[in-house]
Amino acid sequence: MGKVIAVDGPAGAGKSTVSKIVASKLGFTYIDTGAMYRAVGLKLLQSGKPLTEKFLAEITNDIEIKLDESAKVFLDGVEVTKEIRTPEVSKLASDVSKYGFVRKKLTELQREMAAAGSVIMDGRDIGTQVLPNADVKIFLTASLKERARRRFEELKAKGQTVNLADVENEIALRDKQDSTREIAPLVQAEDAILIDSTDMTIDEVVEKILLQSNSYKLQATS
Ligand code: DC
Repeated sequence: MGKVIAVDGPAGAGKSTVSKIVASKLGFTYIDTGAMYRAVGLKLLQSGKPLTEKFLAEITNDIEIKLDESAKVFLDGVEVTKEIRTPEVSKLASDVSKYGFVRKKLTELQREMAAAGSVIMDGRDIGTQVLPNADVKIFLTASLKERARRRFEELKAKGQTVNLADVENEIALRDKQDSTREIAPLVQAEDAILIDSTDMTIDEVVEKILLQSNSYKLQATS
């Protein structure tokens, strides 16, 4: 049985950045569960259909999502790594993540992926719902202003035309939606270690997670 590090927290807290580094240091596989909800949102967008339970169920029943070792994302066999990163798809990912049947399908897929080896998985409900027996649980957060600033810089660097206030509003809306939904809301697991990255560097956060992982004597098993 492989080892599991679960990293949960709101958008822009740095989960994927630090999880990728920790994964490469420990020889674990990095699994970005947000990318999977984004793929569902993108499929809905591409279909041109409105978000109704009926259409979403059709899409979810007939979807193939794959993440490769370099965290590339494939939707129905087509690479969509870039396409899923727009603010429009971010919002749709949060919208579709409210539905129980979407969560059930993706949770099953995520558990299968975790069973294949040692993983660091990031998302909103990994330590609480998907892998509640994770060896290490991290709840990574930062102030709304700082998270918006990071996301703004990230989108700008990718050449997207965005405005800081819009990014902050979008993140605040997703925070609210993700933490108040009925099924598997974003909450800190009781046994998760809280890391507030507002005034921390990426390296400092990575070190803190590695320290936790070492204290649990985690080692790559695959
Ligand atoms: O991590 P992210 O920002 O890429 O996630 C996009 C959306 O997907 C997020 O706003 C809520 C949803 N999500 C979720 O409900 N559960 C997860 N484990 C991961 C993401």
